[in-house]
Amino acid sequence: MIGAALAHDSARRHVTGEALYVDDLPEPPGLLHTVLVLSTEAHAAITRIDVDAARALLGGDGAIVTAADIPGRNDVGPISGPEPILAEGVVEYVGQPVVAVAASSRRAARDAAARVRIAYDPREAVLDIAAAMAAGRFVCPPHTMRRGDAAAALARAPRRLAGMLRIGSQDHFYLEGQVALAIPQEGGAMLILASSQHPSEVQKMVARVLGVDQAAVTTEVRRMGGGFGGKETQPAIFAAIAAVIARRTRRPVKLRLDRDDDMMITGKRHDFEARWQAGFDDEGRLLAVEMDLAARAGHVADLSPAIVDRAMFHALNAYAVPDARVTGFACRTHTQSNTAFRGFGGPQGMLAAEAMIDAIARSLDADPVAIRRRNYVVPGRDATHYGQMVEDFVLPRITDELLATSDYAARRAAIDAANRRGGPTRRGLAFAPVMFGISFTATAYNQAGALVHVYTDGTVQLNHGGTEMGQGLFQKVAQIVAAAFGIDVARVRLTATNTGKVPNTSATAASSGTDLNGAAAADACRQIKERLAEFAARRHGGAPDAIRFEDGAIAGDGWSLPFAQLVTQAYGARVQLWAAGFYATPKIHYDRATATGRPFFYFACGAAVCEAEIDVATGESRILRADLLHDVGRSINPALDLGQVEGGFIQGLGWLTCEEIVFDRDGRLRTHAPSTYKIPTARDLPPDFRVRLLESSANAEATIHRSKAVGEPPLMLANAAWLAIKDAARAASARAEVELDAPATPEAILRAIRG
Ligand code: MTE
Ligand code: HPA
Ligand code: MOS
Repeated sequence: MIGAALAHDSARRHVTGEALYVDDLPEPPGLLHTVLVLSTEAHAAITRIDVDAARALLGGDGAIVTAADIPGRNDVGPISGPEPILAEGVVEYVGQPVVAVAASSRRAARDAAARVRIAYDPREAVLDIAAAMAAGRFVCPPHTMRRGDAAAALARAPRRLAGMLRIGSQDHFYLEGQVALAIPQEGGAMLILASSQHPSEVQKMVARVLGVDQAAVTTEVRRMGGGFGGKETQPAIFAAIAAVIARRTRRPVKLRLDRDDDMMITGKRHDFEARWQAGFDDEGRLLAVEMDLAARAGHVADLSPAIVDRAMFHALNAYAVPDARVTGFACRTHTQSNTAFRGFGGPQGMLAAEAMIDAIARSLDADPVAIRRRNYVVPGRDATHYGQMVEDFVLPRITDELLATSDYAARRAAIDAANRRGGPTRRGLAFAPVMFGISFTATAYNQAGALVHVYTDGTVQLNHGGTEMGQGLFQKVAQIVAAAFGIDVARVRLTATNTGKVPNTSATAASSGTDLNGAAAADACRQIKERLAEFAARRHGGAPDAIRFEDGAIAGDGWSLPFAQLVTQAYGARVQLWAAGFYATPKIHYDRATATGRPFFYFACGAAVCEAEIDVATGESRILRADLLHDVGRSINPALDLGQVEGGFIQGLGWLTCEEIVFDRDGRLRTHAPSTYKIPTARDLPPDFRVRLLESSANAEATIHRSKAVGEPPLMLANAAWLAIKDAARAASARAEVELDAPATPEAILRAIRG
């Protein structure tokens, strides 16, 4: 069961359309549909909201709601606040919801919303990182991590280099957009069906906005059609708006955004500007680094402080730097509030590290692979710039294996020779390592609960605090439970995440879903098994700890009974057949005030070699071949893990090549639909795509079955694709090093070539 490459529990239902998403559920009688009226200004005072024409059109049906109608607090800020669900007095970005209009049909709501008139008194807008940095506008104070004395070490270093990198944003483009259904219950209670990675956050924020107890709100999530971080905090906005209208009208209310509204309203991956200075020796050994990482946070903080922190944690990737200073800036701008996105700032920090080490290698005319390898941290010797000693470190093994299996050296020579011959195209080759810290850096989040029920027929219902967004968490935890009881996974039924079953849950995020919820479910199984073993030993003989759970049976010395039969007997003897499990990650601690500690339980590592081809005249690029080798420890389900590695890489490839977020001069997002925003398609896959999990690997830490988290780290394997494109651009340029922005669009590639 553990290590079985079983299909996702809903694989068939996904492709047949049987899998139910919130918008597929049968609509409750009296349902109202909601449409939001969005700000057309980046920054303005609201001078008047005129809903008369809209109200006349509704003719008594539905409701029109503004900030003034919110019974509790107009604030869903997860870290700080206030972060309004509907603009109050001022608007702070183009796309900010100002008015919510609900009617018995979507059409009626849309028609009425179109008649709402909002008058503005425009103010000056601060739109980008540069403007915010100049104005000193931040959503939290700038923050520094340091080890040693970077300035002094830089001054002493035999060689120095400096650089700047612009790193682009990315829309989540989950297939299922943001949606919530609020259904009023008796006694003022509220049931929320949502598409959320964080049901407890939705519960908490709906309670806060309604001004009711958390105990009065229940949130249920069966599955999401993708979350990718975009549903960690933002679903609370839409659930809370729906709840306000439901409370007011006493009718069920649905709020489902269409794609354009979703892209206009919601935050995305943070774009960054990274500035670095490095000191190193003649062999390219890093001696000192100073780095400034500035991110566009948007109009409110949301999770930006934690995201900029994670960028800082990963700003030196897997490289040892004796003296380092990394400072992060979360810039407050009049744009969408950027939020969690697969990697949570880590990819941006890590790309800066890779651009830096690449530039150092070029300045020495050395192969970047050798310089990377030379700078790897040495376990037991090196601590990170936040003071975590690196212990288990598999990257050297991954690197050696991947360089051999990808035939790196021979292909390097062949590509260099081909490039020397010239022609309309150039090719590039690059290697990139990934070392990603696993755990929420807010230590308290690293806890989880589960609820396991064994019924008298021997079947099992499983519930835990994690949410399913396509990553396969439910299947993995079901396999863990089935393995614990020694029964077929078909006997384990998964149930929707529900704040009424397992409370106070963390977001399913930071790639920790299986580590946390899998361990909590195993804890619940352990309790039930202890009781069953105790009972079985008493009834059938032997010592409780000699009782075995395997092959659908419970067995002792000289006897064996089908699981169901023994369970029935245990019920008859009044043995408790269900349990709540709990898990808290051990060993981790972090003090943000001193920016030191052991924030991560362990590191997840992988590496990639990519080969790119660019068209010198047009700047178009293609990844011809990609070799990925990623470590998931002892895999609980290699099929799902492989899917995460492939999917993560491709999502990273989109971020670094074709996905481009464009604003106009007035702060209007111009890329708010698939017609203008290009995610990668099947045709963008490398025609030669070789993906492998590291074999015979086990987590050195005692994670569930010695597995490792896999959700986010592989996204950063795509750094190799960006580096390969950069390598090709270099071959097309007259200079020893080129400057390439991310994403490497054709325009960016041409700029890099032409300088
Ligand atoms: N895979 C799919 N198919 N859909 C998703 O939305 N989200 C990613 C990753 N893989 C995502 C996904 C992100 S951002 C995270 S943090 C993890 O899954 C969360 O799930 P896990 O902790 O169970 O790995
Ligand atoms: N990763 C993802 N989501 C989070 C984190 C993190 O480290 N902290 C808070 N939410
Ligand atoms: Mo993932 S960005 O931690 O939801």
